Amino acid sequence: MEGRLINPVSGLPDTKNAPEADSSVLRVWGGHSLRGHVKISGAKNSALVLMTGALLCSEDCRIRNVPRLADVERMAQVLSALGIKIHRNGETLDINAKDFTTSKAPYELVTQLRASFFAIGAILARLGVAQMPLPGGCAIGARPVDLHVRGLQAMGAEVQIEHGICNAHVPGSNRRLKGAKIYLDSPSVGATETLMMAATLADGETILDNAAREPEVVDLANFCNSMGAKITGAGTSTITILGVSKLHSTDYEVIPDRIEAGTFLTAAAITHSELLLSPVIPEHLLPVIAKLQEMGVNIVEEAPNCLRVMPAEVLKAADIQTLPHPGFPTDMQAQFMTLLALADGDSLINETVFENRLQHVAELKRMGANIRVKGNHAIVEGVPLLSGATVTATDLRASAALVLAGLAAQGKTTIQDLHHLDRGYDCLEAKMRNLGAKIERVRVNAEGETVYRYADEAVRV
Ligand code: UD1
Repeated sequence: MEGRLINPVSGLPDTKNAPEADSSVLRVWGGHSLRGHVKISGAKNSALVLMTGALLCSEDCRIRNVPRLADVERMAQVLSALGIKIHRNGETLDINAKDFTTSKAPYELVTQLRASFFAIGAILARLGVAQMPLPGGCAIGARPVDLHVRGLQAMGAEVQIEHGICNAHVPGSNRRLKGAKIYLDSPSVGATETLMMAATLADGETILDNAAREPEVVDLANFCNSMGAKITGAGTSTITILGVSKLHSTDYEVIPDRIEAGTFLTAAAITHSELLLSPVIPEHLLPVIAKLQEMGVNIVEEAPNCLRVMPAEVLKAADIQTLPHPGFPTDMQAQFMTLLALADGDSLINETVFENRLQHVAELKRMGANIRVKGNHAIVEGVPLLSGATVTATDLRASAALVLAGLAAQGKTTIQDLHHLDRGYDCLEAKMRNLGAKIERVRVNAEGETVYRYADEAVRV
């Protein structure tokens, strides 16, 4: 049975309306090289936080280049539940938070999407009160929000956590947060973004020290500045925000997704293929490009915002330590582990950002990888081949790592638990197929037989 069930909002296969939805799997037949050009979508982590940034403004905000992802759809549901008007037309989102009066975010949505907690800064800045369920732990670690909370308290908010809800309000008649000097114990991306948004409408100047320097933080600052905010220093570890009384409408384009681009660079490397990628901002990919070059992969800037990746003669082993930007991104660790599993020699991976982000090791071992884990270190002994197997995605980037393993492995790989992949990759299998990969999404019955084959999503190249 074949069909075309595409959700009109997310542009994703509509697994909700397809019967027996969670039995969908990806099948990948390995050993085919890739060829051609791939269009990189807008950055997931930017789009999500820009959507919350739109709450700061009571006029129309247009956000372009928004990827089609389950996480974006969830964030749209959170905003709708707060009374915000949100409309999607292709890759453009129109948001109007004029009638934004609800300060209580819905539990069942916030707990599914950590980034929605970051809206607490914008809600508090606009309304002076916010009730936000704690996002809870997730597959890759406990992920606390203490830095967000302490920063908001430093700006004058009273915050209490009761029954899993973070209740915050700004005392005083004008309900306006006050500028403060805040030092972050660690350069948390989310805390930097929450506090930057909160400070945008605060009274006076806020200085965030030891701030995160990720490109998505810079994108949020640029977005807020395009609405009239006064933020300087984003991209360095000291960000200064001079509060303004209100923001105005904007039309803004999200930066390209450096993690999606990094995943395609790794796909080219692991299949010994030549690919063109655009649009990309090469500067955002420096740690990934440097590591691939160290492994023998050739990458050149073909034209502005366009990279050409060419195969290595021999993929050499390399050591990796994940770090806050501009260090090697934790969101590329799983994909690199797959690549290193096929490299010549031994590699050491040290995951320093999250405490539980090596769960994909067990799945890669199922495919023949030789990896040992000790704490947050993985020792990867390169093997000549991986073999196709049935594997389970354990988190978003781990699912991409398994797709890469499937592309390189001998025979057929079947990947289960696709909801992780759909959170953060815009039409991954369609883009891969367009490059020549043999990959399909099907629904299977208890015997593993195909009962439904999803048709191609629209591929935008
Ligand atoms: C963001 C990204 C995620 C990426 C991560 C690190 C989004 C939506 N997600 O997540 O893809 O993997 O940055 O680059 O942008 N921490 C605390 N207290 C806090 C906040 C964080 O201890 O209040 C810790 C976390 O547990 C973690 C580390 O700081 O160990 C880094 O987390 P953080 O930078 O905050 O990640 P997120 O913003 O959640």
